[in-house]
Amino acid sequence: MDRQEQIEFILDHYEHPRHRGPMEAPDIVMKGGNPGCGDIVTLYVKLDGDERISGLTFEGEGCTISQAAASMLTEMAVGKTLSEVEWMDAAAFVDAMGREVVTNRLRCATLALNTLKAAEKKYRAGQRARSAAEAEVENF
Ligand code: FES
Repeated sequence: MDRQEQIEFILDHYEHPRHRGPMEAPDIVMKGGNPGCGDIVTLYVKLDGDERISGLTFEGEGCTISQAAASMLTEMAVGKTLSEVEWMDAAAFVDAMGREVVTNRLRCATLALNTLKAAEKKYRAGQRARSAAEAEVENF
């Protein structure tokens, strides 16, 4: 895609966001934000039995690039396992958006991806806490 096509691609995601809105009974809800500007993205993640993302929606308020990136992410991350999310490459995501277009807005471009990575960590922390609680009950 040339620069103009990348801009149109980003604008299309901003103006016609994919999978925007809350989700009923998500397995993970994660809110992320850029402290510098106050823009936010909230992700709702549904997992199947293999910790594979079977659904991903978002809500958010913010600049064109951050919200378009969230929309793109909802298309790219479905079907990935949480382990794969952990290793998703920010550079590759920026390339998919159009590095030339977003190069001065990397924090905006990666807000949603970083929020998804934080969602993975939150889920793992919840699992560890649950295992510890179960062990405590068993040893009671
Ligand atoms: Fe805030 Fe882009 S200006 S995320």
